[in-house]
Amino acid sequence: MRLQPLHRAARYLRPADDDLDERDLMWAASVLEPAERPLFSALADADRAHSVRVARLVEARVVGTGDEPDPWMVRAALLHDVGKAQAPLGRTGRAVATVAAWLGGGRLLRRFRDHPGTVGRVARYCGYPDLGAELLRGAGSDPRVVAWAAEHHRSESTWSVPVDDGRVLAACDDAG
Ligand SMILES: [Fe+2]
Ligand SMILES: [Fe+2]
Repeated sequence: MRLQPLHRAARYLRPADDDLDERDLMWAASVLEPAERPLFSALADADRAHSVRVARLVEARVVGTGDEPDPWMVRAALLHDVGKAQAPLGRTGRAVATVAAWLGGGRLLRRFRDHPGTVGRVARYCGYPDLGAELLRGAGSDPRVVAWAAEHHRSESTWSVPVDDGRVLAACDDAG
């Protein structure tokens, strides 16, 4: 998992921007497959707002090249963080989980995925990309959408998604 404590720190310090525009949510619903919509809806407001920003950036970036946005990329942007719904934590809990995983405790923590309470939530947060991929596979999502959920914090040398597409998605994730 490519963890970014400094990036996370910037997010932690940034004022929460979880404004959800009803038009954006309707747009997201129109982009997603019916089986994907409940996974998106289960995300916290701040995560849905982030995902919509990322997806809008992906769409704008692709449109800016004169290409039609590829629907799988916009859906991947909307759904890349869906595993976070399995690990509800506040900002401080997320920061603790990110630093713990960065320090090498992620594998150990993931053993406690089923632990009730905060320890389990921290452990699941460390593995949320894989949890999200499992959920999306179960929903019958495009294999590239499933792959991006699992791979979006990994180094690009390990991606199975097309590298050019992954770079656009990663850049928009960082900016969104
Ligand atoms: Fe993520
Ligand atoms: Fe993200």
